Amino acid sequence: MAELRLPKNSRIGVGKHHAAPEGAKRSKAFRVYRWNPDTGENPQMDTYVLDLDECGPMVLDALIKIKNEVDPTLTFRRSCREGICGSCAMNIDGTNTLACTKAIDEIEDEVAIYPLPHMSVVKDLVPDMTHFYAQYSSIKPWMQTQTPPPPDRERLQSKEDRAELDGLYECILCACCSTSCPSYWWNGDRYLGPAVLLQAYRWIADSRDEYTGERLDDLEDPFRLYRCHTIMNCTKTCPKSLNPAKAIATVKKMMVERR
Ligand code: SF4
Ligand code: SF4
Ligand code: FES
Repeated sequence: MAELRLPKNSRIGVGKHHAAPEGAKRSKAFRVYRWNPDTGENPQMDTYVLDLDECGPMVLDALIKIKNEVDPTLTFRRSCREGICGSCAMNIDGTNTLACTKAIDEIEDEVAIYPLPHMSVVKDLVPDMTHFYAQYSSIKPWMQTQTPPPPDRERLQSKEDRAELDGLYECILCACCSTSCPSYWWNGDRYLGPAVLLQAYRWIADSRDEYTGERLDDLEDPFRLYRCHTIMNCTKTCPKSLNPAKAIATVKKMMVERR
């Protein structure tokens, strides 16, 4: 990947104002973070006033409307538009969440939209996920086994063992939790953060995986796991209502119990 060209400094300027369309009866202003690495200018907040009677109900609908009808240069990620792919994660009205499941009506006054905090920005609302994905890869997020599989069927689990994965397998790797975590902001180079630790626990908790000991060994490190100070921002912000802080606490408990 090409090296990121970052803003000259963190000052965010006042950008362009796009007025409401003529005859709009239900106007709503969206203030959107804009930064284009090709211009060399500092970031700015552009304002787009939309007529909500002509817009879908979610913040992602507003962004798509802006891009389609007002300003095609606006850049953001999205794919599924139903809270499954995780690509539209951004900071909306002060909270990390998914634009496609965040209802505009839940937000009083104007809607402020920024990229996920403390990430390098590729452009506008697109954060650079390279490091996050490398950390995910480092926990070996696949089933590891030593014994050969049964010759005539897949490896089975009891219903109870399968239930251990509830609250873990639903994670869509949107990174809302990790980018809300102060420990990850300051030590993200070495601390894995809540999303990746929840994923690590998802494999530790899987009764079919035979590398539990090695997985715990890999996390036994002052930074990778123990930078979590149970601040709980992660659990508060997760748009899938998961509990990464609890997963991390369980891993810490397992570390103590095996000593
Ligand atoms: S735990 Fe929740 S907030 Fe964190 S990456 Fe998974 S789905 Fe997103
Ligand atoms: S509980 Fe741990 S992972 Fe979650 S926000 Fe706090 S420090 Fe970060
Ligand atoms: S577009 Fe897929 S989660 Fe929002």
